[in-house]
Amino acid sequence: MHFDRLLTHARLATMVPGGAAYGAVLDAAIGIRAGRIAWIGPMSQAPDNAREIDNLEGRWVTPALVDCHTHLLFSGDRSDEFERRLAGESYGDIARTGGGIRKTVAATRLAGAAELAAGALSRLDALSAEGVGTIEIKSGYGLTQESELAMLKAARSLGLVSGLRIVATLLAAHTVPEEYDGRSGAYIDEVCIPLIREAAREGLADAVDAFCETIAFSPEETRRLFIAARAAGLPVKLHADQLSDTGGARLVAEFEGLSADHLEFTSADGIAAMARAGTVAVLLPGAFYGIGETQKPPVSALREAGVGMAVATDANPGSSPMVSLLTAANMACNLFGLTVEEALAGITREGARALGLGAEIGTIETGKIADLAVWDVERPAEIIQWIGLRPLHGRILGGDWL
Ligand code: NIG
Ligand code: FE
Repeated sequence: MHFDRLLTHARLATMVPGGAAYGAVLDAAIGIRAGRIAWIGPMSQAPDNAREIDNLEGRWVTPALVDCHTHLLFSGDRSDEFERRLAGESYGDIARTGGGIRKTVAATRLAGAAELAAGALSRLDALSAEGVGTIEIKSGYGLTQESELAMLKAARSLGLVSGLRIVATLLAAHTVPEEYDGRSGAYIDEVCIPLIREAAREGLADAVDAFCETIAFSPEETRRLFIAARAAGLPVKLHADQLSDTGGARLVAEFEGLSADHLEFTSADGIAAMARAGTVAVLLPGAFYGIGETQKPPVSALREAGVGMAVATDANPGSSPMVSLLTAANMACNLFGLTVEEALAGITREGARALGLGAEIGTIETGKIADLAVWDVERPAEIIQWIGLRPLHGRILGGDWL
């Protein structure tokens, strides 16, 4: 067997479920061919005929991390809202009085795709430096045909310049723009649905998302949007039950959605529907913390129902100004009660599943793309125990060191 690259003397946290904790394989080697994992086995059986051999000297290797929910692209600043929330106003109050998403929309509409992409680079770099190999980026701060498409193009261009795997999501139904005040249904029909068709036609979006909430779009409007998305061949996901129980989790599961995200107010029937549909729960502790939420997502019930739980940053200038996926994982443990193994699975295997990429990345298995992170730690739990440490030694994406 001939490999392009052989990684030797590794400890693997494969994150394959059902076996040892973390799917651990000790004293292992990985053979990589054509960008994919071609062989995994014990050091004693490792061949020595690879083009390049990297001795990892006993380091731990995990799948490269996956941040499956971000709003990384935007213009402008909302630090005044941080001050307002600390002075007692709620996220909803601020949104209802012209702040919130609409404030970012006003600034983002003035920027073109190139400027938006350039503005996001420092945030992308912060995630990348922690070991993130795949990042989902949503539109949703343009809310016009032109500006939403510019956001999606900016997301695609970030993939080209960074070498990271970028997944672009159309979130035109993020909030009702000012020019459609009081006419959310018309905004869905006249802007969002035509945008779905255009984005699908141009290959600019990998999925469609919406914000189903009393301060955003109703379940009925979200349903219309989802019907159009599925007709255009795009999978759906949803900001669901973040501030109240609107039945969002149940709705997105009905459309076999990739994920339902936030979920602080999701009830038992929503969880059951997600379990039936295989919809992943995306937990966003940064937003929970950022808006001072007290109602936690129903982690025990999700676990009991066998719903996969991903963890993401929700990086955005309002509710979750955070560009650290490792901190999000730490918070998912300390705030929501995930085990460390669940949190690590949440930023690898389940994050990949939440993007519809579960067959390609997210675990260390033969046949999958060789997206790997190598760590200077003694135990996998150390990766998540610390805040701000960045114990990443190096990263392989598509078979090559980045
Ligand atoms: O995921 N919930 C809606 N959307 C974002 C917030 C975006 C913003 O505040 O700018 C979220 O929390
Ligand atoms: Fe979000």
